[in-house]
Amino acid sequence: MMTGLRSNILTVTDLSIGFGPSDQEAIAITDRVNFALSEGEVLGLVGESGCGKSVTALAVLRLLPHPEGRVLNGQVLFRGQDVLSMSPNALRELRGNGISMIFQEPSSALNPLLSVRRQLYEVFEFHEHNMDPDVRVNELMGRVGFPDPERVLDAYPHQLSGGMLQRVMIAMALLLKPDLIIADEPTTALDVTVQAQIMELLVQLTREEGAAVLLITHNLGLIAQYATRLAVMYAGRIVESAMVEAFLKEPLHPYAKGLMAALPDLSRSMRERLLPIDGQVPRPQDYPSGCRFRPRCKQAFAPCENEPTLKPKAGGDLEHRVACFLHDPGASASEEAS
Ligand SMILES: Nc1ncnc2c1ncn2[C@@H]1O[C@H](COP(=O)(O)OP(=O)(O)O)[C@@H](O)[C@H]1O
Ligand SMILES: [Mg+2]
Repeated sequence: MMTGLRSNILTVTDLSIGFGPSDQEAIAITDRVNFALSEGEVLGLVGESGCGKSVTALAVLRLLPHPEGRVLNGQVLFRGQDVLSMSPNALRELRGNGISMIFQEPSSALNPLLSVRRQLYEVFEFHEHNMDPDVRVNELMGRVGFPDPERVLDAYPHQLSGGMLQRVMIAMALLLKPDLIIADEPTTALDVTVQAQIMELLVQLTREEGAAVLLITHNLGLIAQYATRLAVMYAGRIVESAMVEAFLKEPLHPYAKGLMAALPDLSRSMRERLLPIDGQVPRPQDYPSGCRFRPRCKQAFAPCENEPTLKPKAGGDLEHRVACFLHDPGASASEEAS
């Protein structure tokens, strides 16, 4: 295995996911998705609703719906271990100690019939650890901002607001000191003011605890503010990946520029370089051949009928990669010649 300077916690390679009664009859949702997270990093995965972000997260945890959800291709390595072939025991440890998940709807992740206390303590019963549960629960309940933890611990989920439930979920996700938290639209169901508090908390606590975060959202604004690196997904493919800072200075893919154009506080010079996107994401059964963004792209030209691959921009930063023929000098040269 190739080793970089920082060690990768999670490496997803060429991951294609589909739904259907068999591999042959499955409709492919994602197409050879690649990304990796190193220790303590916040990677943003962004794209419009329906592009395959959640199914990617579920596949990483082997939680795709049975029996129709299936991995058609690819590999998922967690600290070098092959997740897609893990035994049930190894998977149970992975889901508690290795990776934990925070969903958009905390109410769907919590059991309505059990008190918060019971649900937090159960985490310790089902997983290996060497912590004192009382100490750890109290510590985290304080750190997620409950000045009176006992009252919240005694409560049932329906007695708490969405913001409070998401604080409980953050505490629960961190209990066993996981290496990675996958947060799938963690604040989408919350009021805007509460959203910011929860994001601050999530990013600050995971940093203090040394956990990496895969932040999944349709909201590029959140990624601009909280992630260090991002991958932009469109119709099941990663179309651009970069350090957030480099991306914000110069987004390359027309789809990514369209997402940027929707951000509220851009400079005028930046806004003039961006074009909003018309139209809708196609359904997976209607994905076009070649570049999947082509039907919505105002700059599409003949080479876009072929499939672009993710490459560093010519002469640019090697970490800033884009799958677009506009940034592929070979493609435009052959276009001019023809
Ligand atoms: N259980 C399922 N059966 C069939 N198709 C599904 C199922 N779950 C999700 N999909 C399809 O997979 C695609 C991607 O969904 P999803 O990963 O939820 O998108 P995102 O999280 O980016 O909004 C969508 O077209 C959706 O209809
Ligand atoms: Mg989703």
